[in-house]
Amino acid sequence: MDLKEKLKLLEQMRRQALFGGGEARLEEQHKKGKLSARERLDLLLDEGSFEEFDAFVSHRSTGFGLEKQKYLGDGVVTGHGKIDGRPVFVFSQDFTVFGGSLSEAHAEKICKVMDLALKNGCPIIGLNDSGGARIQEGVVSLGGYADIFLRNTLCSGVIPQISVILGPCAGGAVYSPAITDFVLMVRGTSYMFVTGPNVAKTVTHEDVTFEELGGADVHAARSGVAHFAVDNEMQALEKVRELLSFVPSNNLDDPPVVATNDPVDRQEEELNGIVPDNPNKPYDIRDVISRVVDNNDFLEVHEQFAANIVVGFARLGGKPIGIVANQPAVLAGVLDINSSAKGARFVRFCDAFNIPLVTFEDVPGFLPGVAQEHGGIIKHGSKLLYAYCEATVPKLTVITRKAYGGAYDVMSSKHIRGDVNYAWPSAEIAVMGPRGAAEIIFKREIEAASSPQELLDKKIEEYREKFANPYEAAARGYIDDIIAPKETRPRLIRALELLQNKKDTNPPKKHGNIPL
Ligand code: HXC
Repeated sequence: MDLKEKLKLLEQMRRQALFGGGEARLEEQHKKGKLSARERLDLLLDEGSFEEFDAFVSHRSTGFGLEKQKYLGDGVVTGHGKIDGRPVFVFSQDFTVFGGSLSEAHAEKICKVMDLALKNGCPIIGLNDSGGARIQEGVVSLGGYADIFLRNTLCSGVIPQISVILGPCAGGAVYSPAITDFVLMVRGTSYMFVTGPNVAKTVTHEDVTFEELGGADVHAARSGVAHFAVDNEMQALEKVRELLSFVPSNNLDDPPVVATNDPVDRQEEELNGIVPDNPNKPYDIRDVISRVVDNNDFLEVHEQFAANIVVGFARLGGKPIGIVANQPAVLAGVLDINSSAKGARFVRFCDAFNIPLVTFEDVPGFLPGVAQEHGGIIKHGSKLLYAYCEATVPKLTVITRKAYGGAYDVMSSKHIRGDVNYAWPSAEIAVMGPRGAAEIIFKREIEAASSPQELLDKKIEEYREKFANPYEAAARGYIDDIIAPKETRPRLIRALELLQNKKDTNPPKKHGNIPL
């Protein structure tokens, strides 16, 4: 064979690899409303930037007729490409080859790109569409999963890891996405569960569909496994690109700065009227966030889960920040089990990847009740506290209204290394709300009074005057300044500039023991 013929053969093989499990299966995939593994990569990556590795790999198993069924690539397309000009490593499972199931060779391909991503400090993005362990390969396939889980764990906190679920993801296979930083799911076509509807029916006699058991909305709103639920694959892949625009390529890099036309000294008059005079009236903290950040651009993460805390990415003066905010519009912004875990995971992601944290605080405390106590609010609430305590990135706090009880300490207070802490004049910083406080400390007088209600109201007012304001805290330096709400954006941007070379450390240790 001369070179010309060899090149022709190469061309033929490449073409063959493009079709995965064949045109009929590809058509089947499209009929389900799903794109092919390669079409997905085309949408995800900058045009023409994808370079494939291991297109000629196929499985090496025998038995069950496997020797007659060999497909180039063995059910996963791997390689690297660029997103907004920055290199990323990718794998995209091909459902048309043995249902995208994971064989030894398939796992090796994934591990290769994960190793390269780690060595080169690049994000790794996995597009998951798989029937799980390649049944015909048995334990070898299970070993392949374990090889991936190990790498997920070693990469955690070193490079960003993103999982997009675009089809089935079941059994132990779910634990790879679960370890990664962000999970995105598509409504109607993707699902995740450890055991499927059939097993549920046999074991617990529950009758559920795939979507009801492990669909996108279930995981985005109820289990919290998914950070984003979107309507179609294009949206999912676009979301990955958007997400990465806020995140550095690795834990040693700074987050990518974007030029902004939003003036750094912009003051927002509307912020002055945003907090209602009545402390029991809700408002949407996202109205505050969007008025403060560059171009009102806020990428909310985990939007549907534990909506009493809001987390997400934005920019101030072009620089990415992570925002954590109590949400007075949902459960009065109280901290509970789910919101604590949600906040903690986000704080730790930002801290691992050098993204400064901006906290907006309006929190009446932790949620009372048997369900919360028995569910472990002590353990789960301490996750958020721990995460804030250990975070060494710049930490800015703005108390917009309530900062009561233990929640005051938790929400990036000065005492746990908050760097710059501001309060609006509407802030109420105290051990508890005026009513609860008055009822306890004036209990005897109120019981003995001829008109108990009148006395209670008077005492509530007295307490409010003395404690439900930011001045006690400011007098002790727990608050660095009390600022007009409209000044929030310029004040935060100046504080961020001040902290751009911040260095802080934790004592040397193997790792802490966060209460899990
Ligand atoms: C080998 C598989 C496969 C698998 C699917 N296929 N799953 N081949 N191993 N795990 C093949 C099918 O034989 C079929 O081949 C093709 O993929 C498409 O599958 P269909 O069933 O026709 O597709 P669909 O109707 O869409 O159903 C998809 C599915 C179903 C729900 C995922 O295939 C399924 O239930 N598969 C088995 C899932 C499973 O139990 N996996 C093991 C889980 S345990 P042809 O040739 O017809 O195209 C596990 C452990 C991991 O994963 C542990 C890690 C620690």
